[in-house]
Amino acid sequence: MSKVLRKPAEFRQACEDARAAQRHVGLVPTMGALHDGHFSLIDEAKSRADFIALTLFVNPLQFAPGEDLTRYPRTFESDLAGCRERGVDVVFAPEPGAMYSPEFQTGVSVKGISEPLEGGFRPSHFDGVTTVVTKLFNLAGPCIAMFGRKDYQQWKVLSRMALDLDMPIEVVGCPIIREDDGLALSSRNRYLSTSDRTRALGIVAGLRQAFDAWEHGEREPDVLRSLAEEPVRGAFDRLDYVAAVDPETLAAPSPSPRRILIAVAAHLGTTRLIDNVVLGEDARP
Ligand code: PAF
Repeated sequence: MSKVLRKPAEFRQACEDARAAQRHVGLVPTMGALHDGHFSLIDEAKSRADFIALTLFVNPLQFAPGEDLTRYPRTFESDLAGCRERGVDVVFAPEPGAMYSPEFQTGVSVKGISEPLEGGFRPSHFDGVTTVVTKLFNLAGPCIAMFGRKDYQQWKVLSRMALDLDMPIEVVGCPIIREDDGLALSSRNRYLSTSDRTRALGIVAGLRQAFDAWEHGEREPDVLRSLAEEPVRGAFDRLDYVAAVDPETLAAPSPSPRRILIAVAAHLGTTRLIDNVVLGEDARP
């Protein structure tokens, strides 16, 4: 039976009580609209911890004006049912005012790794993410925290932040979960019309082209990048980026790389999708 907590102090207390009872806290931060990708994070948390805390908060700080904050799907009752089915112990679902008082004036910012890719197109986004996740980490206390690798850069930024700020948190990046046809699960997929859902497969086609070329020995980042870009450019209305970068630094890959991250962000109408594959590590998308 997942207990719903609305107040930060209650959430802090629940995690403290769990630790006092010798339980290991597994944290799953989400913005709700839960799907099988989130459920895989819960499963992973359950395999590594025995007190599972899922947070459900659409964080206004990480949306720029004009982004989809107001239309972001809010599906609390079905999210809660999903958490209960999967044995989540507590669901922390605060109101925005409980997280950000009118006097709130603090931000947490990671430089370097947050600047390319998403950082170039959503300049205030990661500051919003790192600030809210710092608050969640502070409330949860020592724990293991799960993030999906669809938001690959977010995972890297949060790992950096936890290390740099000596946070007692183990940050884990969990594999992307895909539909049978390869489309990465995302809360934003529900915005897609049937025809846009088909066009979205352009990203999968691009990642697969790069993946297959890598498997056949291609190692030139520019070639891999163009192979990934071609189907996306054909199917999507607008491209933010298709990048071939080092998976650790997100900068240009070294010569003869052993792994390359291909990362894509593109728009179908008003819906922005992101996806990625780490060549040399991940399975074929
Ligand atoms: O990945 C998300 O859902 C959000 O960015 C996160 C990590 C929950 C912070 O609001």
